[in-house]
Amino acid sequence: MYENIRAAVVGSINKDLILNMEQVPDVGENLLGTTYSYANGGKGANQATALARLGAKVKMIGKVAEDENGKTLLENLQNEGIDTSCIATNGTSTGLAVIILDGEGKNRIVVYEGANAEIKSEDAVKSIENNSFDLLLVQFETNEEVVISSVNSAIKKGITTVIDCGPAKAFSLEKMQGATIVTPNESETKALTGIYPDSEDNILKASKTLMDRSKARFIIIKLGEKGCSVWDGESLTLLPAYESNVVDTTAAGDCFTAAMALEYLKNGDILKACDMGNKAGSIAVSRMGAQNSMPTYKELFK
Ligand code: ATP
Ligand code: RIB
Repeated sequence: MYENIRAAVVGSINKDLILNMEQVPDVGENLLGTTYSYANGGKGANQATALARLGAKVKMIGKVAEDENGKTLLENLQNEGIDTSCIATNGTSTGLAVIILDGEGKNRIVVYEGANAEIKSEDAVKSIENNSFDLLLVQFETNEEVVISSVNSAIKKGITTVIDCGPAKAFSLEKMQGATIVTPNESETKALTGIYPDSEDNILKASKTLMDRSKARFIIIKLGEKGCSVWDGESLTLLPAYESNVVDTTAAGDCFTAAMALEYLKNGDILKACDMGNKAGSIAVSRMGAQNSMPTYKELFK
């Protein structure tokens, strides 16, 4: 079990509006969808949920508003056993994601950041400094300053620090050097390096660029149905994905990051950890929704 691991997540909390359709519309095209539903999401909250379901002790640092979505999202995190005492509730509007899901379970996501962009760096740093953690997970769905100051504060304390680079955007990796793991997906790799990781050569080039910029110990690129790559500065390893019946790929990356981080902390073997991330990701894609799709420890090890 991972129950002795104390994890902090600094990140976003969103209500997800999921619109299902066979085919996504082109510019100017008007198409009918098939169904819609609301789900609990946000990259930070998804990762916190995955960590908690796998047995870790989790504190989430973030922000919502005192609106209906904020209330239900917070309640849901508490029901997952996550400590929400460092989630501020005085945001202007809780984060919202609109997710268009096509017939193959592939998504397009647009996020309204709302309260997520209003987290204060000093609050995040205070929470990291005043508590004992073994692990910090961050993503890029809050403001850049919060991510950088949280990571630097965790590195200073010797905490294992994992930077999940979603959503895709340019980011000053140079301002937070020496994290344990930097892990983008394919489009995030392209946004950060200008290189799309569609061949072994390009995966290697992009991984080297990311390591030069971040000075992280490991660069792990999530490659969707192809699994993931691991670069440790000396060798590149490609690990295949597990077979899965794909329903919805939303939050597969969040699930991968959380499971991989816990397994790495437990046994220190990065390849075993990434294999665990692949296994967890394959479960997440077989289910609808974001937080909903995260596996429990029992499901992962059955
Ligand atoms: P999202 O942004 O939708 O949360 P992502 O794009 O960050 O996800 P992906 O690279 O699509 O992340 O997927 C993360 C991991 O999930 C992959 O590295 C792989 O282990 C697993 N995975 C994704 N798609 C599939 C699939 N079709 N079959 C099996 N495993 C998959
Ligand atoms: O990574 C998936 C998440 O991205 C969704 O839950 C959505 O909220 C967006 O933040």
